[in-house]
Amino acid sequence: MTSPSVSAENPELQALAEAVDRRRNFAIISHPDAGKTTLTEKLLLYGGAIQQAGAVKARGEQRKVTSDWMELEKQRGISITSTVLQFDYGTNTINLLDTPGHQDFSEDTYRTLAAADNAVMLEDAAKGLEPQTRKLFEVCRMRQIPIFTFINKMDRPGRDPLSLLDEIESELGLTPWAVNWPIGSGEQFRGVIDRRTRRVILFSRAERGRQAEELEMDADDPRLLEMVESDLLELALEELDLLEAAGAELDLEMVHAGELTPVFFGSAMTNFGVRPFLDAFLELAQKPMPRTSSAGEIETIRPGFSGFVFKLQANMDPRHRDRVAFVRVCSGKFEKDMAVQHARTGKTIRLSRPQKLFGQDREVVEDAYPGDVIGLNNPGMFAIGDTLYLGSKVEYEGIPCFSPEIFSWLRNPNPSAFKNFRKGVNELREEGAVQILYDTDESKRDPILAAVGQLQLEVVQHRLENEYGVATRLEPLGYQVARWVTGGWQELEKVGRIFNCKTVRDAWNRPVLLFKNEWNLNQLREEHPDFALSAVAPVVSGVEPISL
Ligand code: G4P
Repeated sequence: MTSPSVSAENPELQALAEAVDRRRNFAIISHPDAGKTTLTEKLLLYGGAIQQAGAVKARGEQRKVTSDWMELEKQRGISITSTVLQFDYGTNTINLLDTPGHQDFSEDTYRTLAAADNAVMLEDAAKGLEPQTRKLFEVCRMRQIPIFTFINKMDRPGRDPLSLLDEIESELGLTPWAVNWPIGSGEQFRGVIDRRTRRVILFSRAERGRQAEELEMDADDPRLLEMVESDLLELALEELDLLEAAGAELDLEMVHAGELTPVFFGSAMTNFGVRPFLDAFLELAQKPMPRTSSAGEIETIRPGFSGFVFKLQANMDPRHRDRVAFVRVCSGKFEKDMAVQHARTGKTIRLSRPQKLFGQDREVVEDAYPGDVIGLNNPGMFAIGDTLYLGSKVEYEGIPCFSPEIFSWLRNPNPSAFKNFRKGVNELREEGAVQILYDTDESKRDPILAAVGQLQLEVVQHRLENEYGVATRLEPLGYQVARWVTGGWQELEKVGRIFNCKTVRDAWNRPVLLFKNEWNLNQLREEHPDFALSAVAPVVSGVEPISL
């Protein structure tokens, strides 16, 4: 539905409304190895965005050759970078916001989720919910975005499908609604029954990676029994009846509120169930939605362009040693060469070389619409959470920083390299590569790196050495839990001395408490039940952080 203010008399808004209606975007949340790369690749095949299976990995290979600080990726065989993949399918334009594969970079994934309107939760049928998926689910829940579940690897022996649904319901508090239901599993996987049409899509073991043929027929077609064992079919139909009897309905409002998840069974590797998933996703997913700003909700369909930076990436192309700011378009039409306002600094910036990024490839974009992502070259101008706009001032809610779990002093043993050390630390913080904390004792000037995973610290060290020419030393602090004091320094003073805890400051001079473990934190909670602490750093807007 287009907004009522869009009338045929305003063809520009009409065109904008149509572009928004056509768009869907999503990010995939999963635990490593569940099959995210494989599913992405199959989705791109349907979109005609790539011609052959293996292309995503081939892109990965290319990336490894073309990027040099990502040498680390090569050494470790991991993927840290994330990009955006846009493709058309039918009448839709789909933006897949790709996220890094390694869990140590989940902070990056959090930010990407801030730019997504839908999430696809990918599970391995043999494993069900895994730690990384649960963590990322929490972020989706905070933002209340719709979640679509794809249960993958059905061609292999897996857990009982009913127990997988139960787990989603009981552990995530999310009502599952199976859109299709598997007939058999593992060696005996025969296909899925579409719950709404009662059509069966039969599974045939295609050669690895090839697009499997999808033979379809009605569940009561007598020919079906020539192809599927009767006991497997009966069991699947009985289970479907059980689900129907349980009574939940596929309520679109609940889907869009992030309370009910449509569930699909399939096998990305054999390309089974991917097309029906994509079709149903496009039918049920939400289009780019209005966003909350300092001036209230900003409609997508309005004359003025606006968007926010959700990610910065350095050295995507080492030939240019550049930094790219990823901007999610939130309202209006974006056009190349636009001169926009930068909300934080009040400066006007001409966006003359906006790019569309597809994996490692780039092309200059002429225009973009709400839900799209554009890449801007960023000579130190943008920070994560920055808003760009045209017309009346808009400032979008910032992106929260997530609770780090690893803390380490960053030492610079060579005083003559201090200038570069400072530049590197400040730029890497701006880019969101790591969070920086400081000791409350101002004579201890070395920064404390705070990260979600150890590899994140290694990347920072590696980049400081390679990009800024400073060899550094890490000295672990031995704390594992961080909490922001919601009421600030005043509240902290009221509590008095806290044992087994170190107080530090974040880059906005706010108090952060570090604990050795959850137990110490719980002890404080018991002693001071009214003392409000937050695992997520409060969002800041309009205030410049402290530089080293
Ligand atoms: P990730 O990005 O989530 O980490 O997972 P990825 O797609 O790389 O898949 C992890 C492994 O799981 C891969 O095997 C992949 O082939 C396999 N896989 C993905 N989907 C399916 C599926 O539907 N069925 C089966 N049986 N396997 C699946 P690998 O041996 O680690 O890598 P490769 O040899 O395929 O490169």
